[in-house]
Amino acid sequence: MKSDKCSEGFRVLVTGASGGIGRAVVKELLIRGAKVGAHYWKNKPDVNSFMPHKKNMCLLKTDLRNLKEIDGMFQRFINWAGGIDGLVNNAGDVFIRKHFLEISEKEIDADLSLNLKAPFWLSRLAIKNMEENKVKGAIVNVSSIAAKFGGSRQTLFYGLAKAALETMTFSLGRYCAPLGIRINALRLSVFDTPFHQRHVKDMRERIQMIPAGRMGKPEEAAWWILCLLNSKSAYMNGQVVSLTGGE
Ligand SMILES: NC(=O)c1ccc[n+]([C@@H]2O[C@H](COP(=O)([O-])OP(=O)(O)OC[C@H]3O[C@@H](n4cnc5c(N)ncnc54)[C@H](OP(=O)(O)O)[C@@H]3O)[C@@H](O)[C@H]2O)c1
Repeated sequence: MKSDKCSEGFRVLVTGASGGIGRAVVKELLIRGAKVGAHYWKNKPDVNSFMPHKKNMCLLKTDLRNLKEIDGMFQRFINWAGGIDGLVNNAGDVFIRKHFLEISEKEIDADLSLNLKAPFWLSRLAIKNMEENKVKGAIVNVSSIAAKFGGSRQTLFYGLAKAALETMTFSLGRYCAPLGIRINALRLSVFDTPFHQRHVKDMRERIQMIPAGRMGKPEEAAWWILCLLNSKSAYMNGQVVSLTGGE
């Protein structure tokens, strides 16, 4: 079995590696000698910016709203890495900002597909593979404080999806614990990434609501994701950790 300590030879698939938090996670993993499947969709990461570790990195392009594409991506990752020790379900977005009185069925489905169905599908593929190969691996789901507050009128289904993602974490954690596989979630408040350049108009007002008085940094989220992946967290399973500046 490969090391499951986020270090040399640790095989981990990170979704949304082209975004602010995913990129920080990939960087930290590569520095520790991990083999990283870096998933993206529209924005291909510049592998040269991950020098000198780029040989330990495999780029995987997929629209995560399509379950067949996810199957193909997972297989490509397994063929390249030879197995899986860790999965970070980090990709996520508000598909469209639209009041719940106006939103269409198709738009609801898009939010739920990306933020809930995709992490479930990937978690299931990873759990099956880990179980078959007797790997005591770890999964981290990236959630949002929208799970607690329900999101805004324009982000209701994003919030619902994140809340369901947390519920999935409780449930799968109980299934996985006897197998030595762990699944936890990290609930984030406001982090300084392209996500907020797209979605929050008045950041000053939003930041005033955070007791710490500032946004989180992608590296701070990455640190906790690596902690949850690390086998030193072996007794932590089926939990939601909040990283919210006190909110
Ligand atoms: N930033 C925050 O304040 C905050 C707060 C709470 C929770 N979160 C959560 O943290 C995670 C990372 O967000 P971030 O802040 O790093 O945002 P980000 O910089 O906007 O990154 C979002 C990532 O999701 C990917 N993505 C979007 N739609 C996709 C699709 N249909 N198929 C596949 N990939 C798709 C993007 O890929 P491409 O760019 O390649 O298209 C990108 O890599 C998300 O789950 C988000 O919900 C963030």
